Amino acid sequence: MKSATALNSTLSTNLQDHNVVIFGGTSGIGLAAAIQAKGAGANVTVIGSNAERAKQAALEHGLSGWRAADVTNSEAIYAALADIPKVDHLVLLAGTFVAGKVLDAEIDYLRRAFEERMWASVHAIRALGERLAKDGSITFISGSLSDRPNAYGTAVLAAASAAMEGLARGLAIELAPIRVNTLSPGPINTPILSKALGEGRDAFVAALEQSLPLHRLGTATEAGAAAVFLMTNTFMNGATLNVDGGARLV
Ligand SMILES: NC(=O)c1ccc[n+]([C@@H]2O[C@H](COP(=O)([O-])OP(=O)(O)OC[C@H]3O[C@@H](n4cnc5c(N)ncnc54)[C@H](OP(=O)(O)O)[C@@H]3O)[C@@H](O)[C@H]2O)c1
Repeated sequence: MKSATALNSTLSTNLQDHNVVIFGGTSGIGLAAAIQAKGAGANVTVIGSNAERAKQAALEHGLSGWRAADVTNSEAIYAALADIPKVDHLVLLAGTFVAGKVLDAEIDYLRRAFEERMWASVHAIRALGERLAKDGSITFISGSLSDRPNAYGTAVLAAASAAMEGLARGLAIELAPIRVNTLSPGPINTPILSKALGEGRDAFVAALEQSLPLHRLGTATEAGAAAVFLMTNTFMNGATLNVDGGARLV
């Protein structure tokens, strides 16, 4: 007789024929998740703001499709998703490193932190509606800043990141049985660092590495694997998964 508590079964990590859509899947953590989801059998569509980069990523890694859409433009989100019949796993991690002090920075610039994460996610979910598979998942992006803020102008980005964790918990109830989680990376070595810091990147990374428990940044592959775990572990729901090498502890 089969017992409900049988320990000899394994949980499938197979994504064969699952349709995966990754906003921000054209670079860094999202691209690493796309490559690994494809390796697990998924049909993966990646979306970024830049058409050339999106096309290149899809061609180079044999992904099923690509779209270009600026996630701060709701019409572009609707257009990008218009011809996708069904989505099993939706991953929303498009975003930039929005840094500026509340007393100094332009409000419209600071607002981007929420537009890229919170409102882009709300629009994408509304755009897909019933095309989101009920036995599938949605994964948002946060970051260790949400619980470990600093004094370098990241308060609004930290708030936008924390908002994603709250949105995931709320939608895990509102959209049930679709599972909704948040991936919260610590410092990960991706192109975002050069985009944000320019020539200051190497000095920043060298100083940061000294302070981290593992004395290194995470890799996009490590963070991408955590995103795939949230797709495939069918009991992960309403959770924030920290993949930070212990950065929160120091
Ligand atoms: N790396 C870290 O240390 C770290 C830590 C915590 C959280 N995060 C978050 O993780 C997410 C991914 O970061 P990453 O490190 O993988 O960075 P990345 O390599 O720069 O990748 C960012 C991705 O987002 C897309 N994107 C950015 N702005 C967009 C927009 N307005 N519309 C559509 N797509 C847009 C980019 O495509 P285009 O280039 O075409 O715009 C790219 O695919 C970001 O939200 C970031 O804040 C990163």
